[in-house]
Amino acid sequence: MPLKNLNTQIRAKLSATTLFLQELVSTPREVGAILPSSKQLATAMASFLPKDANCWALELGPGTGVVTEALIARGLREDRLIAIEQSPKMAEHLRMVFPRARIITGDAFELDQLIEKHAPQAGHIPVVFSSLPLLNFEPKIAEMLAKKIRDLLPSGGKFVQYSYHLGDKQPKAAAHFRYLDSKVIWLNVPPARVSASFNSPCDIASAFSATITIELGSFLSVRTVERQSSSSSGTSRTSV
Ligand SMILES: C[S@@+](CC[C@H](N)C(=O)[O-])C[C@H]1O[C@@H](n2cnc3c(N)ncnc32)[C@H](O)[C@@H]1O
Repeated sequence: MPLKNLNTQIRAKLSATTLFLQELVSTPREVGAILPSSKQLATAMASFLPKDANCWALELGPGTGVVTEALIARGLREDRLIAIEQSPKMAEHLRMVFPRARIITGDAFELDQLIEKHAPQAGHIPVVFSSLPLLNFEPKIAEMLAKKIRDLLPSGGKFVQYSYHLGDKQPKAAAHFRYLDSKVIWLNVPPARVSASFNSPCDIASAFSATITIELGSFLSVRTVERQSSSSSGTSRTSV
């Protein structure tokens, strides 16, 4: 690779990381990570992309686009990507880097309305990739999101999420789904587990028991923080 191109790439990465850190300082709970994901973590997420070259994919919490880049490198058509990012600055950055993708500035917890409004042509979306720091949200809110993802995905559709809780093969947010596979990525700060689940219509009973586990988890949380949820009325309590 010519030195000039390498320089441009390094500068682009540095400015993306600077933006990430600035957003971390202003909204630490929403950003929920100390650095963008490593290439290894992003590649592990992208490995769950369906083989169909024309499929649509939804990304929640793309940040500065590390996972987005891995998805496109894996074969996702840029114009088949819908991404919802709450930070206007990060969304603007993503629009510059991925001009053909549908980047929506908004709250992933309103994904149903946002997709209907901004990407009605998408129809069935067979895979959702989430980088949302779900442990920073109140369990009921995380559960509401899981239900919305479940409603969006067709039967057999995949939900891919990473978590810094290495012990949980299937994150609690995926309780409404059937476990598919997971792997720990040590080359990330901090190490993370990528988990994939799929939408199975026969899983109501296990989803119900998992909901009870989530509720119990909220009693055990160490501290609570405030989160302003635009989708619910007023302020809600959030465990971290
Ligand atoms: C842990 S960072 C991950 C960023 C990137 N995907 C990566 O792996 O480096 C979480 C991202 O989710 C975004 N986010 C948090 N809450 C959100 C919400 N409710 N709706 C949309 N994006 C959200 C944050 O702004 C941040 O960009």
